[in-house]
Amino acid sequence: MHLALNHAKRPATTLAVDAALARDVIAGLSAEQKFLPSKWFYDDEGSRLFQHIMALPEYYLTRTELGILHNQSGELAKWIAPDALAVDLIELGSGDGAKTVSLCEALLRQGVQCTYHPIDVSKHALTDLQRRFQAELPALPLRPIQGDYFERWPGTPPSHRQVVMLLGSNLGNLNQKQSVDLLSRVRSRLLVGDVLLLGLDLKKDPGMILAAYNDSQGVTAAFNMNLLRRLNRELEMDFDTEHFSHYASYSPLDGTARSFLVSKRRQTVRSRILDREFNFVCGETIYTEQSQKYSTEMITQLAVASGFDVANVITDDFGLYAIAILRARTQQATRSASPATIFSVGWPGFMTC
Ligand SMILES: C[S@@+](CC[C@H](N)C(=O)[O-])C[C@H]1O[C@@H](n2cnc3c(N)ncnc32)[C@H](O)[C@@H]1O
Repeated sequence: MHLALNHAKRPATTLAVDAALARDVIAGLSAEQKFLPSKWFYDDEGSRLFQHIMALPEYYLTRTELGILHNQSGELAKWIAPDALAVDLIELGSGDGAKTVSLCEALLRQGVQCTYHPIDVSKHALTDLQRRFQAELPALPLRPIQGDYFERWPGTPPSHRQVVMLLGSNLGNLNQKQSVDLLSRVRSRLLVGDVLLLGLDLKKDPGMILAAYNDSQGVTAAFNMNLLRRLNRELEMDFDTEHFSHYASYSPLDGTARSFLVSKRRQTVRSRILDREFNFVCGETIYTEQSQKYSTEMITQLAVASGFDVANVITDDFGLYAIAILRARTQQATRSASPATIFSVGWPGFMTC
């Protein structure tokens, strides 16, 4: 897409415009169902709000996943490092690394030679991560990468085992095709026998799921609304957040939680930098995030379609959440799997991340 930014009207002191953000906003707010990719949530304030969300009573995901990582770190370490090979631990969307620290500790305790490569778009999250690891695990070699995990990858010695982690049910923010694309792309970077750890939220009581995306203190609403503030700041837009509200839904039919921003009235929003305006009718929504919930069958089918075998699936005692341990297998077997048949009810195809 050709992108003509209206630089002439910008004061010389403003920050450089992120061309990918500009492209996504033009595409998303011009679509019939307006949408914005969820990766743009994580500016400094968004990362801070997400840290607050993770501590909310309704947000069972973080403490449940942390519990598995903490209580089963020895078991996980056995899968990650079954032999004497050195390990490169590559975490996609690491956030502040709060979950990974106990796993790294377990690996070091077992004498595994390990280097940790967290990749995240958020500078704020990576700064917190570095502070945490310097304080708690100063002996661990740390190689943070700020950037999009669709594009960036660390250089690692071929003699090391690569262990890729995607925790926090981050995969659930992608639709079916994007999930298979991302995992296949990860697979293409790995050798047979390398490991992928996926933290995935499981299907459960719909009321419990919905509450996690619609907390009583309104922190999730503030997180969602912060996206508009970011666009106001970075693209000189004039969203009035008083005229939008947060809406969350969960459908047990397709296992997808969805978040939206709802226009409370007919309005036009402009961007000076993009030199565009976007019209909203009353009640019109911007689709900002999807969070897929999984069954064990879905996990297996996703793995097979992307070139992995499921080595093990570890859950908490209540079956709320799973850490799936996948092993890269020979590419030949991958060709027989069809990503189109993974889920009985399709994920939305219009959202791009
Ligand atoms: C839901 S948080 C999860 C953080 C951490 N993995 C956890 O489980 O607590 C998602 C993180 O992924 C990062 N992120 C989202 N999309 C990304 C992308 N395409 N590339 C790199 N980082 C991304 C965000 O900045 C954020 O820190």
